[in-house]
Formats: sequence, structure tokens, C-alpha cells
Amino acid sequence: MNFIICYTCHKKFFNNYRINLFMNLLRGRNLNFLADKILLQIRLQCKSVHTCLFDHLKSQIKIVGPMTVANYMKEALTNPKWGYYMTNDVFGAKGDFTTSPEISQMFGELIGIWFVAQWIQIGKPCGVQLVELGPGRGTLMADILRVMKQFPETLSNFEVNFVEVSEKMISLQKKNLGIPHGKKDFCITPSGTKVSWFTHVQDVPKGLTFYLAHEFFDALPVHLFKKVGGKYHELLVGLNRSENELQLVTAPGPSPVARTFLNSETNADECEVCPEAAVVMSYISENISTYGGCAMIIDYGESDSQRFSLRGYKNHVLVDNIFKNPGSCDITANVDFGFLKRCIRGEVHHYGPITQRSFLLQMGIQQRLKVLLNTATSEQARNLISSLDYLISPEKMGEKFKCFALTNLSSPVPPCFT
Ligand SMILES: C[S@@+](CC[C@H](N)C(=O)[O-])C[C@H]1O[C@@H](n2cnc3c(N)ncnc32)[C@H](O)[C@@H]1O
Repeated sequence: MNFIICYTCHKKFFNNYRINLFMNLLRGRNLNFLADKILLQIRLQCKSVHTCLFDHLKSQIKIVGPMTVANYMKEALTNPKWGYYMTNDVFGAKGDFTTSPEISQMFGELIGIWFVAQWIQIGKPCGVQLVELGPGRGTLMADILRVMKQFPETLSNFEVNFVEVSEKMISLQKKNLGIPHGKKDFCITPSGTKVSWFTHVQDVPKGLTFYLAHEFFDALPVHLFKKVGGKYHELLVGLNRSENELQLVTAPGPSPVARTFLNSETNADECEVCPEAAVVMSYISENISTYGGCAMIIDYGESDSQRFSLRGYKNHVLVDNIFKNPGSCDITANVDFGFLKRCIRGEVHHYGPITQRSFLLQMGIQQRLKVLLNTATSEQARNLISSLDYLISPEKMGEKFKCFALTNLSSPVPPCFT
């Protein structure tokens, strides 16, 4: 029993430390029988998050049959009670994975400069919304706003709209932006920027928008298909014989998603399809086409990959089986940039994908490092240098991550994409 959060017994929280203290107290007073009885009660009443989510999925499968992998992924990541992103601070050394903005402030600062350059190029319009999809801890936006503060004109013309499903993440975002936690629809940062939160990108008011999505698309649910006898069959999540584990099963025939997204030109043996990415991509491109603006999408992936990339991470290690202990690990799939391009609607320019290495070098990360080193302690200097290496080195993040941009037709070519 590592850490128990039980939503079936009124959200009571126990952890090993507290339980052990209490049990030692009882045992120290020769009340062993009472300690054992209480422990048994705790075990009976409380299930871990993963057991709760497993039971929930099992009952769904028993009623309506195996579910799509996309449905499983959505539940495992964003189920309101037990989803991975809903209950955990998952980032950094103590979490399960680290993202570029969490590695170094230089990353967010250069993205901030890219947006400021975009804004200057299109004639410094007022009333721009900066919409970040899946902002995590809010570190990237905090770094961007710090850069914008250096250009006071910019700050007064921008407001920030976050698209986020997790209350846990929203509280981290508020903390990082220096905003007191509260249940308000919008807040103002100490430097005067209005920040609002929305659950879906479609809920954000329409208008001139700069979109930012860093490691957002890879968290969207994917469907898996395998060719059997020349036809695509969807892989589904069902129960094993003893109904105590989830496992992949093959659907007997093609599914509606296969009919919509897989055409006669698709000839890979395995296919991963992300309909939610299609919905988001067509929505934001249409908005940029109509109201102006741009988008910067950064993620890992390739164009038109022919193999499954769905995987999970726990404590920075790849997990063996993403269907075991649902809700306990990050689940992610590579972004198919070719697919994103095909989902563009309206008239926009698209650029890239180019590698993160190429983007950061062109944006002047080495020059930024030099400036930061001028005032760094020796330990800070070591960290800065190794962070830069991590961000741009081809075998680390440099070539795995790609930058893909959209602009309104009337905008000139954005920096780094010439
Ligand atoms: C991998 S994290 C990336 C965080 C951040 N962008 C970074 O790079 O550090 C994914 C983020 O997207 C959010 N998220 C996941 N699925 C989402 C969805 N369907 N709609 C909105 N946000 C979502 C998560 O709560 C989390 O904040």
C-alpha cells in the first residue's frame, strides 16, 4: 500500500507515513489486535486510484463490450476522478517525464521571442489572444510572459487563454504565474496580463489568435488498426479470461473511424489515427484563416509513420504494459505531422516540421546561453550548459522534437522557417 486516495470513501487521504505512525502508536500500547483490524478495514474500504479506474473500465466493458484504445487512453489520462493528469504533478525529476520548458528557461524565452517577432511582422495589432493548449505546469507561459515584459507594448496587447482539462494542472499554472488560487473564470498576473481557462479549444472566444501547443497533440487519444487479411481491423481493449486484467483484442471488422480516416492509399500494416488531433487542427487552422494569427506546434513525431508508437512512461522509464494499472502512467503517441497537414482547413500557410535543434539554433539559443552565463554561479553554469545540450543534441531532444507552424495567408514567412 503505497499511497491511497479513495474516492469511494469520501476522498479521504491516507499515506504510508501517517498509517505507520498511527499503527506504531497502537502497537506501542499493546493494541496489536486493534492495529490489525484497522489495517484490514482500510484495505477493504480503500482502493488505489488504479484499482478504482480498472473497476470503472471493467464494468463498462462488461456492459458494452471492448472499448477503443482511444477511449481507454482518454479515461487513463483525463478521467475526471482517476485520470493520470487529474491527480498528479507528473513533471520533472520527481515525476514521470521532463519537457523542454521544464529543462530550461531558454526554451520558453525563445518561443516568446518568436511570437513577439510574429506580432511585429503583422503590424503590432492590439487585442491578440495567446492560446496555449495543454500548458502543464505553466512554465512555458511564465517564460514567454517574462520575455514579453521586456517589450511593454506587447504585454498590453495580449491576453492569455489556457486550454486545460485538469484542475490539478490549473492550480500549478496559477502558482507559476503568481496568481492566487481561486474559482474565478479569469485572473490577472502580477504584471497585468489577463489569463482565462477553457476546457476545449472550441470554447475560447474567436478572434486574432496566436496558438501554442507544446507536447499537447501527443497526449490526444489514438485508435490502433492492424491489417488482417488485407483489411484494417481496429484493436480494442477488452478483459482477459479471468477478468482481472485488460488486454488488446482485435475487432472482427472495420470500425467507423477506419472508414473515415483510412483510405485506399493507406497501405501500412499498422496504423495509429488521432481523430481529436484532426478536430483541433482543422478548428485552429480555420480560425487563423478567418481571424488572422499563427500557431506553433512542438512535439515528437514524424510524418506518415507506418508503425505503432503508443507507449507509457513512469518514473522516466518506458512501461511494459500500458493496460496494467490504468491512470498510473503517462500514455503518449508520436504526432503524425503529415496527418496534421492534411487536416488543415481554410487558407493558411504551413511551415515545417523542422527539428527543435534547427529552431533553437536559429533563434539564438547559444547567444542566450552566453548572456545567462555572465551572471551564473558555477553550478548554474553547469546546469545551463547541460540543458542546452539536452535541448539541441540530435540524440537527445534536438531531432526527436519538431516545430510546425501555421500563419494567416497575409503574414510573411515566420522566423526560422525560410
Ligand atoms: C504532456 S503535458 C505537456 C505540458 C506542457 N505543455 C509542457 O510541455 O510542459 C500535456 C498537458 O495537456 C493537458 N491535456 C491532456 N489532454 C488534454 C485535453 N484533451 N484537453 C486539454 N488539455 C489536455 C494535460 O493536463 C497537460 O497539461
